[in-house]
Amino acid sequence: MNSRILTVFGATGFIGRELLRCLSKEKRDLFSVVRIFSRKNKDISFLENLNLNVKHIQGSITSQKDVESAIQGASHVVNLVGILYPTKQNSFDAVHHESVKNIARICHSSGVQQLVHISALGSSLDSSSEYARTKALGEKAALSHFPSSTILKPSIVYGPEDDFFNRFYRMAKISPVLPLVGGGETKFQPVHVNDVAQAILVALDERQSVVSGKVFELGGPHVKTFRELLKLMLRYSDPPLRRLLLPMPFWLAKTQATAFELAYQLFGVAPMLTRDQVELLKVDNIVTAGSLNLLDLGITPKKLSRETLSYLTSR
Ligand SMILES: NC(=O)c1ccc[n+]([C@@H]2O[C@H](COP(=O)([O-])OP(=O)(O)OC[C@H]3O[C@@H](n4cnc5c(N)ncnc54)[C@H](OP(=O)(O)O)[C@@H]3O)[C@@H](O)[C@H]2O)c1
Repeated sequence: MNSRILTVFGATGFIGRELLRCLSKEKRDLFSVVRIFSRKNKDISFLENLNLNVKHIQGSITSQKDVESAIQGASHVVNLVGILYPTKQNSFDAVHHESVKNIARICHSSGVQQLVHISALGSSLDSSSEYARTKALGEKAALSHFPSSTILKPSIVYGPEDDFFNRFYRMAKISPVLPLVGGGETKFQPVHVNDVAQAILVALDERQSVVSGKVFELGGPHVKTFRELLKLMLRYSDPPLRRLLLPMPFWLAKTQATAFELAYQLFGVAPMLTRDQVELLKVDNIVTAGSLNLLDLGITPKKLSRETLSYLTSR
């Protein structure tokens, strides 16, 4: 009988759902139980269609008690929890750093075999973005408290339920103009969500020497500027769209972001852009030369194409 138990923090998110689908379709026998950790009042009906022995645990990653009970008895842990902007309950530091430290410590003391932590490309202790700084602190905490952790750092992740191409596609359907923050010259290396999910599976299943204590940067085969990505999105939409791409200087984007953040504080409307995200947009988000990447995990990244973007359709 397989006694491997997997706990997935952040399993209800975009990458988490794809990971569960891949596990269910391709690696059903890898774990006897998959524990899904999510916050209260979350719709988890998608779990019903999975061919997995799933146990749902409700809690917050910032609660030591909740995290302890989710990890107790698990052999493998994946952490996919991340936020794009802080809330009253959850600061960047609490979610991206302190919680990761906590998870890694508990994994160590509970005898977990493998911890796979998903961070983000561009994380840096010197970044002017708090998102990127706290992501870097989280990676450091994971590796120091659970040295055999595997860290995966994706660039923008895309796929049918993404928050990047879908967001601009929705905007393009109602607006004749799309903004190019900072002129749209920042470079990205979008990676398909299925490639990220496969990377997590390899990190969970691979011989320890290949992945243990290692950091992998995950990018697709194409480096594209923000402007080029929006053009691709418009060209591959079904039916194709024509829109004006209007450069917006960083200072103006920050002014607009301030208004979005105020609306969030006053009315609770999720901000479309924050000042911290504008800081992130100032730096290229591409795989560092010489870093370990998808190919080192045996994965050939999918191309950005009409086929992989076929979900941008109004038909
Ligand atoms: N998507 C990208 O383009 C991209 C790029 C680079 C790095 N990443 C990183 O990859 C990871 C997964 O990304 P994603 O796109 O799948 O994110 P997502 O769709 O926003 O999902 C985030 C997950 O985190 C959970 N979560 C947030 N705060 C929590 C808390 N306090 N306690 C427990 N769970 C909490 C959410 O749970 P609920 O469902 O309960 O809210 C959700 O399951 C994140 O760390 C992200 O920073 C993503």
